Amino acid sequence: MGKSRTAPSQIDLITRYREVRALSEALAAPLSDADATVQSMADASPAKWHLAHASWFFETFVLRDHVPGYTPFDARYTFLFNSYYEAEGPRHARPMRGMLTRPSLKDVRAYRAHVDKALVTALPMLKPEVQALVLLGLNHEQQHQELMLTDIQHLLSLNPLEPALFDAPNALPAPIPGPLHWIEGRQGLVEVGDDGKGDFAFDCEGPRHKAVLHPHALAHRLITNGEWIDFIEDGGYARTSHWLSDGWAWVQAEGIEAPLYWKRNEQGWTRYGLDGRKPVNRAAPVTHISLYEADAYAHWAGFRLPTEAEWESAALNIAPTSGNQLDGAACPRARAAEGGSVLTQMFGDVWEWTGSAYRPHPGFRAAEGAVGEYNGKFMSGQFVLKGGSCATPRGHVRASYRNFFYPHQRWQFTGLRLAKDL
Ligand code: AVJ
Ligand code: FE
Repeated sequence: MGKSRTAPSQIDLITRYREVRALSEALAAPLSDADATVQSMADASPAKWHLAHASWFFETFVLRDHVPGYTPFDARYTFLFNSYYEAEGPRHARPMRGMLTRPSLKDVRAYRAHVDKALVTALPMLKPEVQALVLLGLNHEQQHQELMLTDIQHLLSLNPLEPALFDAPNALPAPIPGPLHWIEGRQGLVEVGDDGKGDFAFDCEGPRHKAVLHPHALAHRLITNGEWIDFIEDGGYARTSHWLSDGWAWVQAEGIEAPLYWKRNEQGWTRYGLDGRKPVNRAAPVTHISLYEADAYAHWAGFRLPTEAEWESAALNIAPTSGNQLDGAACPRARAAEGGSVLTQMFGDVWEWTGSAYRPHPGFRAAEGAVGEYNGKFMSGQFVLKGGSCATPRGHVRASYRNFFYPHQRWQFTGLRLAKDL
């Protein structure tokens, strides 16, 4: 973290700590121990594991390393709740996280309370560089809040009862957003990447660097479910010519015919969400699509995906706290765009696939110590997504923020915005 950062005051940090920790508890409140224990696939983790792992992060990188006399809640938890930090030693295999019927959800809540007490007590005494690790831990926990929601949704979707975890008002009959407008982007040399001036950014967002943008335009809004249905009805999933070779192999091997959670009945398409199974809202942005699907759609429509630098330079003047993001323990859902001919839906609603590989920015250096494993070592084979989603805690994202997933993954709130060359 650069020295020029304006670190939040201690009072702010304690308040933020309590707020972030409380949101995790609120999101998990409707879960039974069984709901919180089962793992639906290797990519997803049980809610109980998310709740414990986020605590392990504070316990390890703050309390153990920087608070003399701290007593760990249970020394065996390091093996259970270390996600992927090689520097922290061996760990429970990721695909086996659902085997942890013990510790119970109650035990995990007690673990969280133990960490909270020690951390809030120690906070005023921590050196600025350790307070920066607390801030990293809070941003880490926010990432896990979104993952916890998408993982619970995936788990519950596999139950034939398709339970609704939250009530949500039935989708208003929103008018289909009008035709796409194209917003011309900057051309030539632009500056993107974290400038080190905000109060926090992940290491992979920096450094600030130059990028060349060729003449291009971005669509003023996201692609909708209605437009996606047009793609399906035009044989989008059946015509190999739209697809990347790896994407076509994936469509064939997995029998893909629609976004994740979609099913067709006599009335038309339905989708599953944390509010249960509902008719697909044609006006809402399409979500739960892979990079392969996003790319095939763009090809079918005659356009392309934006590059990360095109997206980021267009987002620089838009408030990152704007848009439809996670505000509380509500059921996250993407919403229809408002009219207009300026860029809309840049932040919130759905993560936007870019055509850019998740690789280091020029001059990137991973953070020092074990937390250097946080982002840098995953810079292979994944694509960058920008802008956050309806399940991203408000205040978490910014223009330089880089989310990343493998091109076949689609259980996150992923969608697309078109771009074109001019
Ligand atoms: C940025 C969402 C891909 O899922 O591993 C959580 C977030 N990093 N703990 C992931 C993360 C460390 C990360 N993603
Ligand atoms: Fe993590």
